[in-house]
Amino acid sequence: MKDKKVLVVGSGGRCHAIVEALSRSPQVDKIYCAPGNAGIAALAECVAIGVTDVEALAEFAKQNGVDLTVVGPEAALAVGLVDRFNELGLKAFGPTKAAAQIESSKEFAKELMAKYEIPTAGYKAFDNYEEAKEYVFGRALPAVIKYDGLAAGKGVVVAESYDDADAALKDMLLDESFGKGRVVVEDFLAGPEFSFMCVVSGEKIYPLAMAQDHKRAYEGDKGPNTGGMGAYSPVPFVTAEVEEFALERIMKPTAKAMVAEGVPFKGVLYGGLILTADGPKVIEFNARFGDPETEVVLPRLESDIYELFDAAVDGRDCETKWSNDALLGIVLASNGYPGSYPKGAVIGGLERVESQVFHMGTSEKDGSIVTAGGRVLMVVGRGKDLAEARKMALEDIAKIECDTLFFRSDIGHKVLD
Ligand code: AMP
Ligand code: GLY
Repeated sequence: MKDKKVLVVGSGGRCHAIVEALSRSPQVDKIYCAPGNAGIAALAECVAIGVTDVEALAEFAKQNGVDLTVVGPEAALAVGLVDRFNELGLKAFGPTKAAAQIESSKEFAKELMAKYEIPTAGYKAFDNYEEAKEYVFGRALPAVIKYDGLAAGKGVVVAESYDDADAALKDMLLDESFGKGRVVVEDFLAGPEFSFMCVVSGEKIYPLAMAQDHKRAYEGDKGPNTGGMGAYSPVPFVTAEVEEFALERIMKPTAKAMVAEGVPFKGVLYGGLILTADGPKVIEFNARFGDPETEVVLPRLESDIYELFDAAVDGRDCETKWSNDALLGIVLASNGYPGSYPKGAVIGGLERVESQVFHMGTSEKDGSIVTAGGRVLMVVGRGKDLAEARKMALEDIAKIECDTLFFRSDIGHKVLD
């Protein structure tokens, strides 16, 4: 029956993709999104509540008879949104604060993987700058240095020189650029990366389609790390055998380990994996949908996403069905991103675009869509293969008029060029 009311918490492209998938559910009657954005507003009623304003969100859910709340961003998980909703008897899809530690604390994740023999890079944690420096300088390059906490994907430095490594350690441990915290120094792993997101409910796992992200700002994987400049799905080098290994040796044991540790995981467990010569290994876990991976994965889901979320919250079985189409999405970002960038530029031509467009950072001003973030739009082409999907996305980007945006035309280059 089409009678369910859903509240989606978040405002970016990931959230738009979740809302779009929910809008196709035969069970969903009404979608609210807090706070949403100008693109989401076409599919959901946007409500002006911030993603960490837990009490206001709970009150809204109660007042409006919301059946299920879906949490997008890590910031909302980190302040315990799901814990509070659970206390109040409100249904929420996402991990508790304790379970979300698998993302928010690198050391928690690393210790869990060591204890349960989940394949990952060797590591050592430090809170003292001198000790960290001595350790790094006694090892081979490149050095992988990670801030132990939430840093919006920017707290990782892969240093090719000792000077760069030293600068990163100073930044994180002496200048405390991300706040007071520890660093984790890891062994360097080589190979292509991919993102394996699974809906998890305790020991139950519902795997989603594979995707690959592009973290660097500029073409040829050059420039600074960003939140992600494009993604595609499926990922040809992730063969059935690699997927089987990733599921049986990484994702399932991790879900089991969380149960065994007394912090059962419910929500999306995102495995940032790397295909090394010794098989897939974990680079990082996230406790939520990936952005921009979600924008190329969820449009391929043909079965009912509300059923999947609801089944996961209740611990029921649920079958998923996926389209064989290939999807490739290209992010249009504001000039200057991931540094400072202009806002408020009018975006024209969107009505001529045939690809699916997810809004990442937009707002509405005087009847026009304007830029309102670092990452602004994601244009997702679709085809029988990735080459076709990329062609479609690039042709559609050419129709979009806005002076302050840039994009990478080489998304998918690892498998296409
Ligand atoms: P993370 O935020 O942990 O996903 O790291 C950001 C990026 O740094 C990853 O996508 C990798 O490209 C790179 N990276 C992180 N850890 C390692 C590692 N141990 N070996 C090689 N590259 C890494
Ligand atoms: N695309 C990487 C992330 O969501 O963290």
